[in-house]
Formats: sequence, C-alpha cells, structure tokens
Amino acid sequence: MSLLETARAVRENAHAPYSGFKVGAAIRAASGRVHAGCNVENAAYPQGTCAEAGAIAAMVAAGDTEIAEICVVADAPEPVPPCGGCRQKLSEFAGPEVPVTMATMDGRTLTMTLGELLPRAFSSSRMARE
Ligand code: THU
Repeated sequence: MSLLETARAVRENAHAPYSGFKVGAAIRAASGRVHAGCNVENAAYPQGTCAEAGAIAAMVAAGDTEIAEICVVADAPEPVPPCGGCRQKLSEFAGPEVPVTMATMDGRTLTMTLGELLPRAFSSSRMARE
C-alpha cells in the first residue's frame, strides 16, 4: 500500500463529530516502516488531536524517531497543509528536506518540504548558548 493509500485508509477512522473534517496522515520512517494516524476530536474541543500528531505518536510508540516522508489527506477543495503546531511537532523528528505531501480525496497532491512549510524552525539547537 502506498503512503497515500495508507493515509486515505486511516482517515476513515477519524473521530471528527464536531468539525466533520476527517484527516488521515501516514509517515514513512527512516526504517522503512509506515505509521498512521487520524484526527481524534473531543467534546472539550481543545483536547482534540490532529492526524499528524496521531501518526507521530504511533511512530514513536513503535520505536521509530526519524521521519523520511509524510502524507496528509483530507476532503478539501485544495490540498490541506498541516497546522502550525503540527509543523513544529513534525520538525522534532524530520529535517527541513523531508517531503510533506498534501492530498485531496479526488487525487490532487501538493508536495513541499518541511523547511518550506516551517522556515527557521525552533529546535533544541536554538537553545545552545555557545
Ligand atoms: N486537522 C488535522 O488533523 N490536521 C491538519 O493538518 C489540519 C486540521 C484536524 C483538526 C480538527 O480535528 C479538524 O481537522 C478541523 O480543524
């Protein structure tokens, strides 16, 4: 199954009764393994989590810590970019060269690097004093 197919499949499991906006994400780790996540909303709205965050959690739980590629899919007129918080979450495990593919349900895709989506990312190296 391709990364896009995995993202589309996990999107079906999204719990999005409040927004009605289901999102699926699939990460290919440097190990070659694929990890998937969907958005999980909550009646206490701020407690909801994005699909990317779910995929990252599944990846880390499975023992991978390096993202090689990620695909995000949603039913939208244009490919949906990860939210700002998820860009930062991705940057914990992905370098600026990592491709982020955004896809619509009708098959349109847009691929950008994480560095294009999150220039001058904050990372632990920014905290170095010397
Ligand atoms: N959402 C994601 O899962 N990923 C994104 O990149 C954008 C937004 C979810 C959060 C919320 O459950 C719904 O989409 C509407 O914002």
